[in-house]
Amino acid sequence: MSLRENVCLPHWVRGELLLLSSVVFLLRVACGCPEKCHCQPTLNSVDCSCRGLAEIPPDLPPQTLTLHLQDNQIHQLSASAFRSVPQLMTLNLGNNSLSILAPGAFHGLQHLRVLNLTQNSLHSLESGLFHSLPQLRELDVSSNNINHLPAALGERWENLTLFAVQQNQLQQLDRVLLESMSSLKLLFLKDNLWKCNCHLLGLKLWLEKFLYKGGVMDSVICASPDTWKGKDLLKIPHELYQPCLSPSADLESWPGQPLSPAQQAVLRPPKSHSVEEQDPSDCELKPKPRPANLRRALVTVIIAGVLCGILCLMMLVATIYGCTYAAITAHYREAPVAQTIEPAKTEEKELLDNPPA
Ligand SMILES: *[C@@H]1O[C@H](CO)[C@@H](O)[C@H](O)[C@H]1NC(C)=O
Ligand SMILES: *[C@@H]1O[C@H](CO)[C@@H](O)[C@H](O)[C@H]1NC(C)=O
Ligand SMILES: *[C@@H]1O[C@H](CO)[C@@H](O)[C@H](O)[C@H]1NC(C)=O
Repeated sequence: MSLRENVCLPHWVRGELLLLSSVVFLLRVACGCPEKCHCQPTLNSVDCSCRGLAEIPPDLPPQTLTLHLQDNQIHQLSASAFRSVPQLMTLNLGNNSLSILAPGAFHGLQHLRVLNLTQNSLHSLESGLFHSLPQLRELDVSSNNINHLPAALGERWENLTLFAVQQNQLQQLDRVLLESMSSLKLLFLKDNLWKCNCHLLGLKLWLEKFLYKGGVMDSVICASPDTWKGKDLLKIPHELYQPCLSPSADLESWPGQPLSPAQQAVLRPPKSHSVEEQDPSDCELKPKPRPANLRRALVTVIIAGVLCGILCLMMLVATIYGCTYAAITAHYREAPVAQTIEPAKTEEKELLDNPPA
């Protein structure tokens, strides 16, 4: 079986192969290219795409730089699956049936720059899967069934410039993972199940910074909750996010703004018996009521206004009273002088001294 797959001969010769095993061996050595694949020795490129392959051909030329394995039926990768091609720079495994990748599947690919895993059946990715790829520049895991990306996945992703994860089942993305992609230029996130609650605030803030620095991305369209379904995450105002109450892991996933123990205590529900309060749906984005401190501020302003008004009124009354009093006393003092100069005015004086009852 392996002999049949390893020769550079057209399909119709296969029947004779078992009888000619020694000839086949010689042909294989001379050819240096796996059966079914097309090799371009000058480019060190091997094209095994669309050949109905179920596994990685075992006899790849060791100097291969580009390997096309897309459009086949490869369903799993064992550990060190590419140990025979350590120089590989571009590996395309798109449109296969991969559902399992052994943790060390890409081990030994020190020079790999482009890894394409689009259109497979991956549900999850081991956190250390790409750690053996220090030169990785472009990673395409779009069109799979991935519902979670571990934060440690990007531990060595400072050289990554393209990350494509569109058309999966992601509900959120860990901020630690985002922070690890410090050289990223292109990001594809469309068509996932983004759950636009407080857990996605980290993504929103990171994306704003990413765009500000000139990054290019598609869009994050919320799939839930109903309030935000179909809305663009970047167009939902910040004010509508409340900090996540619990679990504490969410608080810890905010390296940019670590919370003091006191703040954490404030954000956490006071008693552990309140299990319902810890329900993640609790932190869903809602057009929230006016925050308590704003209300308090309003009340303070109103009280201050009322007090100020009363004070002003009292001052006005005091002024009027003072003025009237001053006017009356002044009149009394003037009266005797007027009497001596103009005795004719005694009548008036008498009227003032004895006002009519
Ligand atoms: C995927 O590969 C199959 C062969 O395995 C091919 O028939 C099909 O056209 C490919 N799909 C795409 C979208 O390239
Ligand atoms: C991966 O392969 C698909 C289909 O072959 C292609 O459309 C896509 O651009 C590739 N991704 C990268 C990052 O090159
Ligand atoms: C990124 O690439 C540079 C050179 O291209 C390399 O020296 C460095 O080790 C790479 N980063 C990581 C995390 O491996």
